[in-house]
Amino acid sequence: MSDLQAIVDEIHAKLQKRLGEGKVADYIPQLAHVDPKKFGIALVTTDGNVHSAGDCNEPFSIQSVSKVFTLTLALGKHGETTWNRVGREPSGSAFNSIIQLEHEEGKPRNPFINAGAIAVSDLVLAGHTPREAIGEILRFVRYLADDDTIAIDPAVAKSEEATGFRNFALANFMRSFGKLSHPVEHVLGVYFHHCAIAMTCTQLARAGLFLAASGRNPMTGHTVVSSQRARRINALMLTCGHYDGSGEFAYRVGLPGKSGVGGGIMAVAPGQASIAVWSPGLNHNGNSLVGSLALEMLADRTGWSVF
Ligand code: DON
Repeated sequence: MSDLQAIVDEIHAKLQKRLGEGKVADYIPQLAHVDPKKFGIALVTTDGNVHSAGDCNEPFSIQSVSKVFTLTLALGKHGETTWNRVGREPSGSAFNSIIQLEHEEGKPRNPFINAGAIAVSDLVLAGHTPREAIGEILRFVRYLADDDTIAIDPAVAKSEEATGFRNFALANFMRSFGKLSHPVEHVLGVYFHHCAIAMTCTQLARAGLFLAASGRNPMTGHTVVSSQRARRINALMLTCGHYDGSGEFAYRVGLPGKSGVGGGIMAVAPGQASIAVWSPGLNHNGNSLVGSLALEMLADRTGWSVF
C-alpha cells in the first residue's frame, strides 16, 4: 500500500469519533435530510493515482464548491473584464452577507461569497437562456471530471428556489445598482442549479485536478486554462474560499480550498494532488467541521502546505 493511501486510511480511522460534530445546514430544507455521520475523502495525484476512503463514492450537494467551476467558465468567456463585476478581496463577512454591497455600489467583494457567485452566474448567462447556461455549466463539470454521470439534484434546486429569500435580496440589491444584466429570476435559476450539482468526493477531486497541475488535467490531457489562470484561481480559493473562515483555514491547512454548505471541500495541493472531502456537519462559518480537520491532518502528514 502506498504512503498516501495509508495517510488517507489513517485520517478516515482517526476521525470516526468526531463524526456527527457540527451542524448540518438546514436553511435549504432538502440538505437537512443528509446523514450527519457521513464522511468521505478522495485524493487524486497529478500522476493520476487515486486514494480514497469512507463515503467517497456517494454523491452529495456540492453547493458553493461549484463557484470555482462557474468562475473558471466566466473567466473563459469574459477574461479580465470579469473583474469589473466582482472583486478579488476577502470579505471577512458571512457567505450570505449583504452589508458590503451597499457601500461598494453593488459590486461583490469576491466570486465565492453568494453575491459574487450570483454576479458570476449573470456573466455565464450572457447570450444564453437559463436552461442553456445550466447545461453549459453541467457539461463543463462533466468534462473536468471526465464523467458524464454527474447530474443536478432537482429537489435541492427546487428547495433552494422556494426558500432562498436572502439570495433574492442580494440579487435584487445588485440589480438596483445596475450590476446584473439579466432578470433576477433567470440569474438565480442558474445559481441555484449549479449549487445543486451532486458529486462524489472522487468525482470532485478529479474535477479539481487541473488546478493542481498548472491548468491541465493530466488524466485526460485536456488543457483547461493557462497556468497563470490556474494559479490565480488558487489564490482566490486560498484567500476567499472559506469566507470569514479563510484565514483560519490558511493557518491550519495552508492549501487553496473551496467549501460548500453541503459539507464538501475541494482543496488543491499545487503540483501534487487535488483533494475532496465530505462531511455534512458545519462549523460556525458554514464550512465542514470534520472535512477541515481531515485536510489539516492531510497537510500535516504530507507537508503539502503552500507555505
Ligand atoms: O446560496 C446558498 O446559500 C447556497 N446555495 C450555497 C452556500 C454555500 O455553500 C456556502 N458555503 N459554505
